[in-house]
Amino acid sequence: MNLLEKNLLKLGPLGMHAHYAHGYFSYPKLEGELGNQMFFNGKQKLVWSLNNYLGLANCTEVRRADEEGARQYGLAYPMGARMMTGNTILHELLEEKLSAFVNKEDTFLLNYGYQGMLSIIDSLLDRHDVVVYDSESHACIIDGLRLHIGKRFVYKHNDIEDFEKQLIRAQKLTQVSNGGILVITEGVFGMRGDTGKLKEISAFKQKYDFTFLVDDAHGIGVMGFTGAGTGEAQGAQDDIDLYFATFAKSFAAIGAFVSGKKEIIQYLKYNMRSQIYAKALPMPLVYGLHQRLSLIKNKPELRSKLWEITHLLQKGLKEAGLDIGNTESPVTPVYLEGTLEQATSLVRDLRETHDIFCSLVVYPVVPKGVIMLRLIPTAIHTIQEVERTIEIFKEIKNSLAAGKYDHKYQLS
Ligand SMILES: Cc1ncc(COP(=O)(O)O)c(C=O)c1O
Repeated sequence: MNLLEKNLLKLGPLGMHAHYAHGYFSYPKLEGELGNQMFFNGKQKLVWSLNNYLGLANCTEVRRADEEGARQYGLAYPMGARMMTGNTILHELLEEKLSAFVNKEDTFLLNYGYQGMLSIIDSLLDRHDVVVYDSESHACIIDGLRLHIGKRFVYKHNDIEDFEKQLIRAQKLTQVSNGGILVITEGVFGMRGDTGKLKEISAFKQKYDFTFLVDDAHGIGVMGFTGAGTGEAQGAQDDIDLYFATFAKSFAAIGAFVSGKKEIIQYLKYNMRSQIYAKALPMPLVYGLHQRLSLIKNKPELRSKLWEITHLLQKGLKEAGLDIGNTESPVTPVYLEGTLEQATSLVRDLRETHDIFCSLVVYPVVPKGVIMLRLIPTAIHTIQEVERTIEIFKEIKNSLAAGKYDHKYQLS
């Protein structure tokens, strides 16, 4: 069969839904100012789908810094990869500030979180090394592992007994291969909102020799007393060898960073292919990131507000009888039972009748028969918005039970 025809016919596990989902459930267009009230199909919606945790995306100081960075430098500057012609004082200064923020010796800026993680994993391993990782790891970790030609052992999500079992298997192999062990987990799991057991995993360092890499995309700026992330929150930051986070969420920008001991970061600077062979982060981004970091550090009230909204939302949903699983972070999943057809009718009802926009997650991300709605509270949501949302979720839960979504939702 012709390769392109084959791919065009089979759109893959996500694309197979495109014929009814495209433009509505997938690739929707949220328009207007970034925030909790945006326009979808021309109508204003209350948005619970943006990882704009601290509300920085559209705040005046950030918008001003972004404008100033673009005005002073333009998008082109600097030209080339950091290693060749793309290094600047502002890139290095941001690395210094990030190191101090997450309490690590050194930091390397990365162009994207996804590519960065892939490349970190790739650069650290050879075929003698073994990886032990959580079964619910983000795609960037899984895809990084696809580049690894040595062994990997997955442990059941957050199951410490199984983790040790896999660690023992890894140790046996590396004793023969003379390789090392890399352990990877997330700080905050972005779908369910629970946190990796960083403290418990770290404790195994007393018994086993491994390097510990944590993806804290959803934890940075959000978790911990100073916002330094899930390592700080659990008192495990010192035991994390490589702390990775992206700027795509609480920082409301793009790019990522990895922090650790000086020698490891120096190694990454000379071995991460995603950075050596790619243009540096553009200056307006770096300029804007300085401002974002200083807001995250100096305005703890943003984090307090985020947590206040988070607690109100999660408490209210629970009291209304909704199942929000075991989240420990602002990520708020709501689990319901139903078919894919019921799920899509329900979300149409939420969006069209109640003007609430949240993300829908279905099989294969969650088991068949589970409908997961994911809400992301932010520092700019209001108490009234939380209360309205809880009432509406109560109503849709009852409507689901009463059979309202058994038939396709008719758009009026
Ligand atoms: C856990 C995790 N790691 C990495 C990434 C990728 O980050 P970026 O969007 O900066 O490429 C994401 C983003 O969805 C994420 O949730």
